[in-house]
Amino acid sequence: MIKTFDAEILANEEVAEKIFRITVDAPELAETSHAGQFVQVKISDAFTLRRPFGVASTAGGHVKMFYRVVGHGTEILSTRRAGERLDILGALGNGFTPRDGKILLVGGGMGLAPLLCAAEKFSADVLMGGRNSGEVDFWQKEFLPHVEEIFITTDDGSAGHHGFATDLLPEILSAKNYSAVLTCGPEIMMRGVARISAEKNLPCEVSFEKRMACGLGACLSCSIDTVDGRRKVCKDGPVFDARKVFCE
Ligand SMILES: Cc1cc2nc3c(=O)[nH]c(=O)nc-3n(C[C@H](O)[C@H](O)[C@H](O)COP(=O)(O)OP(=O)(O)OC[C@H]3O[C@@H](n4cnc5c(N)ncnc54)[C@H](O)[C@@H]3O)c2cc1C
Ligand code: FES
Repeated sequence: MIKTFDAEILANEEVAEKIFRITVDAPELAETSHAGQFVQVKISDAFTLRRPFGVASTAGGHVKMFYRVVGHGTEILSTRRAGERLDILGALGNGFTPRDGKILLVGGGMGLAPLLCAAEKFSADVLMGGRNSGEVDFWQKEFLPHVEEIFITTDDGSAGHHGFATDLLPEILSAKNYSAVLTCGPEIMMRGVARISAEKNLPCEVSFEKRMACGLGACLSCSIDTVDGRRKVCKDGPVFDARKVFCE
């Protein structure tokens, strides 16, 4: 159900350079959120537009989000302290389809945030890509309790396999039996993941990010083209069947 929550901030910590993990006490939101959904956070009264963030964890009645400081809103959010209240609208959009069997999660950068929630709820392995070890180290710690295997790639070779997640993906999909692939991250990566999954005849869901305003399907600012026509990322997504959005 979509509601606004006045949630207490329990922690707001920098886990890597300019990347923060914010934890709020929101039992009802935690209980009703599905993996892949997002929330719209009101940064402060000075901001008219809320900012969208993926739900990364709902364990223990606490909702966690991870955010990179990229502009004015996230800069201000990083100054919020434990004990303060945060106004959150959610949970929004359509999440990942629950499935039997083991799932492979493939994420790049902050795209790993909604996949962490999927790791919490489904049986999964994760393939994570980052620019360097600093970008993947903290994610490794977050995913470790929830997955059987972690595969890592970095652009500079400072951790795991030297290269992109899509370089390692065919080998991983050939070695193990997965029922589906879920991916979130840079579009070029998701496009590659979708193509490789299709070659292996595996269902693939992609989670999209688009600049948003209302987050509720009313303003059309987040529309994308799909094989079924124009769709709104905030309401029809952010999770889509890869074949509907990458139809090469
Ligand atoms: C469904 C969804 C889930 C997301 N999940 C995460 C997450 O888990 N972690 C994370 O770090 N980031 C996430 N983002 C991106 C995040 O919303 C932006 O980085 C953030 O809004 C930037 O705000 P700002 O004020 O600091 O930046 P500014 O650039 O100053 O923002 C200006 C305006 O642009 C919008 N905007 C800017 N970048 C984006 C973007 N990439 N997507 C949507 N709107 C944007 C802002 O909402 C704001 O209205 C997500 C985006 C979407 C659409
Ligand atoms: S953000 Fe307004 S329709 Fe999607």
